[in-house]
Amino acid sequence: MALFGSAKSKKIKPAKAVSGSIQLPGDKSISHRYAMLAAIAEGTSRFQNFSAARDCASTLDCVSKLGTEYKQLEDGTIEVQGVGPRLKAPTEMLDCGNSGSTMRMLSGILAGQPFTSELCGDESLSRRPMARITTPLSEMGARIEAAEGGRPPLKIHGGRLQAIHYRPEVASAQVKSCVLFAGLFADGETVVEEPIRTRDHGEIALRAFGAEVERKGNASRIVGGQRLHAIEAHVAGDLSSAAFFLCAAALFPGSQITLPGILMNPTRARLLDILMQMGLHVSVAHLEEHQGELIGTIEARGAAWRGAVIAGADTAALIDEIPVLAAVAPYTDGGLDVRDAKELRVKESDRIAAVAANLRKMGAEIEERPDGMRIPGGQHLRGAALDSFGDHRIAMAFAVAALRAEGETTIQGADAAGVSYPTFFEELETVASR
Ligand code: S3P
Repeated sequence: MALFGSAKSKKIKPAKAVSGSIQLPGDKSISHRYAMLAAIAEGTSRFQNFSAARDCASTLDCVSKLGTEYKQLEDGTIEVQGVGPRLKAPTEMLDCGNSGSTMRMLSGILAGQPFTSELCGDESLSRRPMARITTPLSEMGARIEAAEGGRPPLKIHGGRLQAIHYRPEVASAQVKSCVLFAGLFADGETVVEEPIRTRDHGEIALRAFGAEVERKGNASRIVGGQRLHAIEAHVAGDLSSAAFFLCAAALFPGSQITLPGILMNPTRARLLDILMQMGLHVSVAHLEEHQGELIGTIEARGAAWRGAVIAGADTAALIDEIPVLAAVAPYTDGGLDVRDAKELRVKESDRIAAVAANLRKMGAEIEERPDGMRIPGGQHLRGAALDSFGDHRIAMAFAVAALRAEGETTIQGADAAGVSYPTFFEELETVASR
């Protein structure tokens, strides 16, 4: 048994192996989109295994201030009463908490509403760039006020929009979904042509709710004025949360982990390829499709643990999993080289700086670059007092790295994990044997 510290800090003791089966909460990216589209659909939507993330609670809270009602049924199902395309003007600030997804994607819908709304967030979200969404939404005809540097809070004066053909500079699924959601309220056909293919949950969810969305090459198209209908859906387990357990298993040869009902969407599953390339044995069984999303059971077994290079399109595809891959990289044979990852600097924390600071505290060598990092392999880490930097993925990544360190690790601000996975530390304890 590990000793737990205060609610804000967690102590992690080294483990000898990792094994067991974990049922993961629903995917965060899909849950956000379902909640937003359910709000503007006609009828009552029901979602089983909806994400338990604090971020998704922020989305539900925001849509409830826009006239929708939601409740949790006894079996955990989330029910959202849609109001159709025209939401109710909010009477208070829409607080997006720590959630960039909530602020960026909901802005797309609010830009098409005939009222003014204001969105704010916590300290971390208030530092994050919003010009990437305010630029296209302004081009479509919304008037948006932001704080200095295009940062939150945002004041959106919405109304009737004009379709655009948008080519975002950064590869971002949040931006793509934002513009496609706005496209529902625009005259004509809105096109988002992305520089690199990003996750396509926005397109898949729009189709599930009854909209026609065309995808050709790297361009997604939607014609305005389409009406959405309510759906019933089961949300696949979050693959980005699964990454922590897969990396934990990878640290111990012979470890075995089973993760049933996990999202297998090809725009997310690059993680499994890279883990296999690094030496983890992975098999996927019981493949099924739910509302256009693939779901399967992952069986993984720790074996060798080799190094890798993550660059270009892989960096975009693995953007949320890089913190944990980097945190466990010193234990690989060949080390990890992460390139083209400037975006990591503007996530919930500066994830390159956070990884470097924590690895150094554990005694590791790391070379930090403006858009990446190089972590040599074959290193021996020691337990240390670490910081989550208020970032859920940093808290969880270093809890995993701590399992193979020498001595105990303390993670300050570990409660940040609740932003995506409130029961993470309890689950990690159930699979770690000492
Ligand atoms: C997300 C897209 C990614 C990812 C985030 C969730 C989404 O962000 O990092 O955790 O659900 O679309 P970007 O769109 O900023 O790359």
